[in-house]
Formats: sequence, C-alpha cells, structure tokens
Amino acid sequence: MPTLSRYFVRSALIYLGIGFTLGGFILAAKGGGADARFWLWLPTHIVFLLNGWLIQLSMGVAYWILPRIHLSDRGRQGWAWGGFVAFQLGLLLTLGTILSLWVPEVQSLFAPGLLLQTLGVFFFAIHALPRIRPALVRAASAP
Ligand code: HEM
Repeated sequence: MPTLSRYFVRSALIYLGIGFTLGGFILAAKGGGADARFWLWLPTHIVFLLNGWLIQLSMGVAYWILPRIHLSDRGRQGWAWGGFVAFQLGLLLTLGTILSLWVPEVQSLFAPGLLLQTLGVFFFAIHALPRIRPALVRAASAP
C-alpha cells in the first residue's frame, strides 16, 4: 500500500474514533444522561463520520487501486498530496469547533473547514482523472 494511502486510512480511522465518541456524547444527551449542550457537536459528528471517515477511506483506497498511468506511476501525485494536506487542515479546523461548548466563537471555523475539505476532494479528483481514462480506453478497445 503506498504511503499516501496509509496516511489517508490512518487519518480516517482516527476520525472514525472521534466521530463515534462525539456520537456517544450526543446519544447520552438525547437520553437525558448528559448536558444538552453536547448537541452542539452534531455538525462535527456528521462531518467527521461522512468526510473524515468515509470520504478519506475512499480517497485512500482509490489512490492505491486506481489503474496506474504506467507501471508504478500514479500520475499527478502532487495533486493527491495537496488534496491530503488541504483535507487534513480542513478536518483540524472542524476539530477546533469541538471547543464551541466553552468558546462559542470557534463555531466560525466550521465553514472554512468544510471549504478546505471540499478543496481537498477537488485536488484529489484532479490527480485521479487521468488514472480513470486509460482504463476506459482499454475497455473500449477490448474485443
Ligand atoms: C459511520 C457511522 C455514522 C455516521 C455516518 C453518522 C452520521 C450521522 C448523521 C448524518 C446524523 C444526522 C441525522 C439527522 O439529523 O437526521 C447523525 C446523528 C446522530 N448520530 Fe450519528 N453517525 C454514525 C455513527 C454514530 C454512532 C456510533 C453514534 C453513537 C455512539 C451516533 C450517534 C448519533 C446521534 C445521537 C445522532 C442524533 C440523532 C437525532 O437527531 O436524534 N452516530 N449521525
């Protein structure tokens, strides 16, 4: 498995863990067993489990298994790494919003966090596009 895929999958597992933990607190609040303010973590819970877990796992596996350009050449690797960095920065800003229980102002980090994650997916897509095309060409020329 290439280094970038390992980083993506490791990060995905970390955010799965944090996302589940936040979900547990929200569930406790829903059951009346914890402070109702934990509901403030719902948007962060959703972003961590959909973006931090599912999308990151998908990008990690895609970087690994998409058809190579030639032999072990994964094409525009700089874009893929750029996507990883932008995505991590976005997730870190979202992580900061956990503090909104005590510091309401940090809620404003949520939108730039999402923007960086979107940019991360966009960069990754720029890397992935040429890796999808050769497979389609091969399929079209198959007897
Ligand atoms: C991959 C796994 C998960 C995903 C993708 C996910 C995603 C979501 C989403 C999209 C919502 C918003 C639903 C809505 O507003 O209608 C939500 C709400 C919620 N999640 Fe999760 N979740 C996951 C796992 C968990 C786990 C493991 C827990 C508990 C330990 C949990 C606890 C909650 C609670 C308490 C709510 C609020 C439900 C309500 O509005 O009454 N989630 N989750």
